[in-house]
Amino acid sequence: MFISQAGLDLLQEALNHLGNGFSRLPPAETRLDVERLRPVLLEVAGRMRDNYPYHHPLYAGQMLKPPHPLARLAYALAQFINPNNHALDGGRASSALEKEAVAEISAMLGWSEHLGHLTSGGTFANLEALWIAGCLHPGKRILASSQAHYTHQRICGVLQLPFSPLAVDPAARLDLASLEAELAKGDVGTIVVTLGTSAVGAVDPLHLIFPLAERYGVRVHVDAAYGGYFRLAESLGGQAARAFAAVPRAHSLAIDPHKHGMQPYGCGCVLFRDPSVGRFYKHDSPYTYFSSAELHLGEISLECSRPGAAAVALWATQRLLPLERGGELGQRLDQSLKAARGLAGWLKERPEHWKLLFEPELDLVVWAPQGTSAGEVSRKSQAIFEKAAELDLHLAVTQVSQGLVWPELDWDQPRLACLRSCLMKPEHLEWLPEICARLELAAASQC
Ligand SMILES: Cc1ncc(COP(=O)(O)O)c(C=O)c1O
Repeated sequence: MFISQAGLDLLQEALNHLGNGFSRLPPAETRLDVERLRPVLLEVAGRMRDNYPYHHPLYAGQMLKPPHPLARLAYALAQFINPNNHALDGGRASSALEKEAVAEISAMLGWSEHLGHLTSGGTFANLEALWIAGCLHPGKRILASSQAHYTHQRICGVLQLPFSPLAVDPAARLDLASLEAELAKGDVGTIVVTLGTSAVGAVDPLHLIFPLAERYGVRVHVDAAYGGYFRLAESLGGQAARAFAAVPRAHSLAIDPHKHGMQPYGCGCVLFRDPSVGRFYKHDSPYTYFSSAELHLGEISLECSRPGAAAVALWATQRLLPLERGGELGQRLDQSLKAARGLAGWLKERPEHWKLLFEPELDLVVWAPQGTSAGEVSRKSQAIFEKAAELDLHLAVTQVSQGLVWPELDWDQPRLACLRSCLMKPEHLEWLPEICARLELAAASQC
C-alpha cells in the first residue's frame, strides 16, 4: 500500500551503491536477527493502524501531507549513515546538501543573499527569527495578528520579548489600521506577517505592510511555515499573489518543507536576508568544529544535533522537483488551490445547507452547516465531523470567535465550532466529487 517492491528494490540498489563507497574497510557487518525483530516490528505495525489514513485523499482534515516517495527513500537511505548536520565532522555530505537545498529555497523567495538552515519545524524556525529580532531590537515589541500561529506568543514568552496581538479584518487578515495604531506608539521592533494562517489559510497583506514597516523602521518576519511554497503556484488570487510577490523584501522567513515541501516530519527552515545576523550565533565549540575551516551549520543554528537525513531527503526532492514557478511542484499546489475553490463553490451552490465562512486564499476551506445559533451550528458541525469519519471522510473541526464572521447568527456562545479541510494533496482535486458526496451523506444523516 505504501511502497511497492520496486521501491524497496530501488532502496536496496541505492544502499549497495552507498555501501560500495566504504568497501575498502574490513567487514564489520552487524547481523540482522530477523526472527527476533519480526514480532516486534509487526506489533509496531499493528499499533500504527491506530491512525487516521493521512496518506489517502479521503483524509482532508488537518494540515498533513504525505512525504514524496523519493523523500521517504532518500531519508531511509541516509539514516543508514545517520549523519548529524551540527558539524561537518558528523555530516559532511549531508551538510553540503543542506546548504544547497536551503540556497534553492532562498532563490525561490527571490533573495540574492541569505543565511539559513533547516530546523526541527516551523516553531523552531520562528523562534530563531524572533530571537534575532530581539537581538536587533532589544526590549521592543513583537506584533502579530490574533490569527497568527499560537506559538508566536509563547516564543516571545520564552525569549522574554513583549508581544501584542493585532485585530484582523473579516477575511481573517492582519488589520492595517490596528497595525498602524500600534506602530505609532514607537516601541515596536518586529511585525510577524503570516502568509497562510493555520486556522483559515488567510494571507496577510505583506505588500501593504512593508510601506508602514519602513516608515516606522521595524523588521518584518514572514511566517510562511504552511504557505511558503505557494510562491511556486501560478493561480493565486489577486491579493494573495501581491502578498507573495512581496516576499523578496522580508527580513526573515520561516517555511516548513515538512508541510507543502513533501518531507517527513522534522524539516522546517529559517532564512535571514542579511547574512550578517550570523554574528549573533557566534559561539565556541572546539571539540566539534575541527575538521574544516568551512562553515559548520552548527555555527549558525541554535540547535546542536540535527538530522542530516532530513537534508538529504529535501535535497533529493528538490532535485526531482526543482523549485520553479509553474513547475511540477507548483502545478501540484495549483491543483490544491483548485480543489479548495471547487469545494468552496460547491458549498456556495447549496446555501440552504452550508455557509462558507472564508473565501479560500490557499488550500484550506472553513465552513459550517446552516443554523440559527452558534450553539446549534457547533453541535451540527461536531456531529457531521463524526458521521463523516464513519463514512471514511476525515475532516477537522475548528473554532471561530464571535465578531469575525456570520454577524446574523444568534451568538449564544462566544465561539463557533465549524468544519475545516486542508486540501493539501493534489489528488484532492480528482477526489472532490467523492468528498462532496460523502459530506452530503454525513449531513443528511443529521437531519
Ligand atoms: C503558520 C504556521 N506557523 C507555524 C507553525 C508551527 O510549525 P510546526 O508545527 O512545524 O512547528 C504552523 C503549523 O501548522 C503554521 O501553520
